[in-house]
Amino acid sequence: MLKARIAVLVSGGGTNLQALIDAEKSGIIKSGEIRLVVANNSRAYALTRAELAGIPAECIIKKECGSQEAFENRLIELLDSNGIELIVLAGFMSILSEKFTGHYKNRIINIHPSLIPSFCGKGFYGLHVHEAALEYGVKVTGATVHFVNEIPDGGKIIMQKAVDILPDDTPETLQKRVMEQAEWIILPKATELLSAEIIKSREKS
Ligand code: GAR
Repeated sequence: MLKARIAVLVSGGGTNLQALIDAEKSGIIKSGEIRLVVANNSRAYALTRAELAGIPAECIIKKECGSQEAFENRLIELLDSNGIELIVLAGFMSILSEKFTGHYKNRIINIHPSLIPSFCGKGFYGLHVHEAALEYGVKVTGATVHFVNEIPDGGKIIMQKAVDILPDDTPETLQKRVMEQAEWIILPKATELLSAEIIKSREKS
């Protein structure tokens, strides 16, 4: 069985990338294989994580490409030349155009640190999401894995997991708990689910 070829797109610390690497090692992800890591930031620690795991990693910087279109064209070139079948956005902090998402319809998934449709869309990323949840006073939050389309955080939901908010939570403590109790669990699970579907769809065609 040829495993689904996965690329993980990152911008920062890469703890979700690490969860995916660990899940592949432990067999939670058995139908897919991380073949490529792409960062849009040369200082992303995720690049070191990829290197330590022996996964080819590339960096594409939008400013150096000159435009969103040129940036996405380079990205498409890289992904297609590596035969990538599933793209996992794991803390990738750049909004992708309809041209890009349309090129990989139902083949791009993203992890978002809230229960969509709460605290999502433009401007809701990283710690800001947890600040907004605490400010609003919700008692339960969580994480969502969803398909990526042209609407930020607007694609169909694949998996969600709820996490309680505690009275003394700060954005930082909440972020850590949402990662540990939700993100690092559902992102590998959803990646396996989609990888298995990709293999099945290959058999049909
Ligand atoms: C994660 O909490 C992820 O859900 C979030 O950024 C963090 C990246 O951490 N993503 C978004 O907010 C996307 N809208 P990581 O680099 O350690 O995986």
